[in-house]
Amino acid sequence: MTVLPSHRDQGIPLREFAQRRQRLIEQMAPDSIAIVSAAPERTRSRDTQHPYRQDSDFHYLTGFDEPHAVLALIPGREHGESVLFCKERDPAKELWDGLLLGPDGAVSTLGMDDAFPISDIDDILPGLIEGRSRVYYSIGRDAAFDTRVMEWVNSIRSKVRNGARPPGEFVALEHTLHDMRLFKSAAELKIMEQAAAISAEAHIRAMQRAHPGLREYQLEAELLHCFMDHGARSPAYPSIVGSGGNACILHYIENNGLLREGELVLIDAGCEYQGYAADITRTFPVTGKFSAEQKAVYEIVLAAQEAAIAAVKPENHWNQPHEAAVEVLCQGMLDLGLLQGSLEEVIEQGHYREYFMHRTGHWLGMDVHDVGDYKIGGAWRVLEPGMTLTVEPGLYINPHNDKVDERWRGIGVRIEDDVVVTGKGRRILTGDVPKQIDDIEALMSDG
Ligand code: GLY
Ligand code: MN
Ligand code: MN
Repeated sequence: MTVLPSHRDQGIPLREFAQRRQRLIEQMAPDSIAIVSAAPERTRSRDTQHPYRQDSDFHYLTGFDEPHAVLALIPGREHGESVLFCKERDPAKELWDGLLLGPDGAVSTLGMDDAFPISDIDDILPGLIEGRSRVYYSIGRDAAFDTRVMEWVNSIRSKVRNGARPPGEFVALEHTLHDMRLFKSAAELKIMEQAAAISAEAHIRAMQRAHPGLREYQLEAELLHCFMDHGARSPAYPSIVGSGGNACILHYIENNGLLREGELVLIDAGCEYQGYAADITRTFPVTGKFSAEQKAVYEIVLAAQEAAIAAVKPENHWNQPHEAAVEVLCQGMLDLGLLQGSLEEVIEQGHYREYFMHRTGHWLGMDVHDVGDYKIGGAWRVLEPGMTLTVEPGLYINPHNDKVDERWRGIGVRIEDDVVVTGKGRRILTGDVPKQIDDIEALMSDG
């Protein structure tokens, strides 16, 4: 078993954030500026906010988790290339809302070259943009901030007769930044291992505590307890706990159904730990014992997942694990009589999509569906060490599908693990939670 994190773990070292800024600056044009905003706060009701979650790009470059902050990266600027705007310290406000870092702290603690109060940004940032011909910016993610960026640019445009030089070009920051985020460093992988270990333990806890008569949200409570108990304060995405036919609803999050004897329950849940997501799915019987039909479907999905995981290796391209999974799933569906025809036909004509309607995985990182291109120049991207992805085939037989024998209806199975590409092949981060039928049944009979 992976050792669970200690409550003293510090996460990504501060120097790594500085190195990221440096690497980004090195890839920018010399006469440019990059602007990255902190995530806005979101109202939950009246004066109550949703728990604040920093924007992943902003956190990746700063390690800073306060709202109302803006990072500017300015290659070659004499007084420093990394400039942060953030809230000023204010003892009266801090008494109510907690400590603020303040501009001085941004320099001394975060290693910024320069920092200013966010309240001064309208006066200072246009002057930093002026004379830079290119602005790297992620347009369209935050409409309110887009408007402010345009206001700053327009304020420079309004002064061209005085010799001001407004930027002529906006460039998507994502191309460069998201390619950096796609490749995980050793420190990032250590955190992702810990996120995976906590999430694996949570799945084991849910399996051990499942029994008929519980509500799905009571298993969700077991997951959340385990996440928080190990320092992961939030799930990385809303947990899916779907029993019986609910397992066939891909993004089921109501989680209020009853766990019934004879049914399976599908749990898709992972924590966010130190800013990084885990994403695990396991499907198991409510009573701990698979029926013959459940076993048959489960074994197909498991074989497909194993074939897909084996296809995760350097030199293979992004789609090869998916192709491997589809082939095994299709053969399995033909064998069970869920599909008719030849293997080539059902693959080429996509008949399998009635039962397997999603992709076999996605990049995983700070965001559960993490950033990074899947194709380059129209071709599937080749896998390289440090890329991290999920492998998650499934089969979902709708409870109302009267084309198939009744005994198969309402069975939904997905199995999902998190995998990092290594020099030689792959490493599974989420292997601590059992997925072989015998191991699940043994764990649940001990529970
Ligand atoms: N939990 C979302 C996904 O598996 O993609
Ligand atoms: Mn998932
Ligand atoms: Mn996933």
